[in-house]
Amino acid sequence: MTQKDFIPKLEPKNISPGEVSWQSPSNIALVKYWGKKENQIPANPSISFTLDHCRSTTTLKYSEKDKNLKTEDFEFDFYFEGKPKEDFKPKIQKFFQRIEHYCPYLKDYRFEIYSENSFPHSSGIASSASGMSAIALCIMDLEKKLYPDLGEEYFSKKTSFLARLGSGSASRSIDGGLVVWGEHEEIEGSSDEFAVPYPHKVHETFRSYKDTILLVDKGEKQVSSTVGHDLMHGHPFAENRFKQAHDNLKALIPVLESGDTTEFIKIVESEALTLHAMMMSSQPYFILMKPNTLQILNKIWAYREETGIPVCFTLDAGANVHVLYPENHETKILEFINNELVVYCQNGHYICDRVGTGAKKL
Ligand code: DP6
Repeated sequence: MTQKDFIPKLEPKNISPGEVSWQSPSNIALVKYWGKKENQIPANPSISFTLDHCRSTTTLKYSEKDKNLKTEDFEFDFYFEGKPKEDFKPKIQKFFQRIEHYCPYLKDYRFEIYSENSFPHSSGIASSASGMSAIALCIMDLEKKLYPDLGEEYFSKKTSFLARLGSGSASRSIDGGLVVWGEHEEIEGSSDEFAVPYPHKVHETFRSYKDTILLVDKGEKQVSSTVGHDLMHGHPFAENRFKQAHDNLKALIPVLESGDTTEFIKIVESEALTLHAMMMSSQPYFILMKPNTLQILNKIWAYREETGIPVCFTLDAGANVHVLYPENHETKILEFINNELVVYCQNGHYICDRVGTGAKKL
């Protein structure tokens, strides 16, 4: 499927006012997306675990505008946790502009969008993946009412495609388990336009992996991901980095199949540190890790060395640490976190999450 396939060709049905609601999860990348081309095309492929507990719930209320009074504007109100949220509107406006070509019915409707997150608002957890994918799902649900013949595959690919235009990582939040976004020669069906479920064999261990997110810094980031991606243009290490992501994804294929946690750790931790190394070596350079981030990484290494338990970390574009481990070590790892890591978390906060099954209609 290509972009052209996502432009509706038929006349939409007439529908009465209504509402749709979806719940969509966040995700954590193992091989990172960092750097993009025009139109939200990733510079390299990425793979992530879809999460379960960290999610956004969004309701889209729609009613057709009066045919005689139709304006050439997008008309919508946005409410976050029940309250109008003006500062999020420009993001949605931009999203609507980006997807209008593929959703030409948007200007025929008036929308009210209600969204809330399961995780604390100021937790430093990126809400764009769950938030944007939830809106994309609601829009596609409306599209399905306008064009009832839409097939399941079309629905999920176009949803991921639209979510990508909102925020790259959001493309990976529709399906559950492991999800790949970006073309990779060893991954059949992979595409730069939308994410697809990881198609190869996955060992039991990785199907129930745990992710405990240590909230080191809940404040606003000094540099947004969007700015960070941009700094990969003209970055001295960009081409090598993009190649490395391809190689790492290729190397993960046998690891995910065999359940080899030692090799998994080598790839995943290196990806996390490389992401931050790219930030530190861009121009301008910046650091999103905090002293407590480093304390945690060192503690994880020491604990792993001492116990042999295959626990590792990954990072997204911030100071928080995602602690990844197989489910059967949960009791021990939670003990370790409570005894040794919680002191580095802001107000002692952390969130227990795990690999989830993907977005759900409510
Ligand atoms: C470090 O998807 O937030 O989390 O496409 O500009 O919205 P935009 O960026 P975003 O970038 C996420 C980057 C990352 C790595 C990843 O999730 O792959």
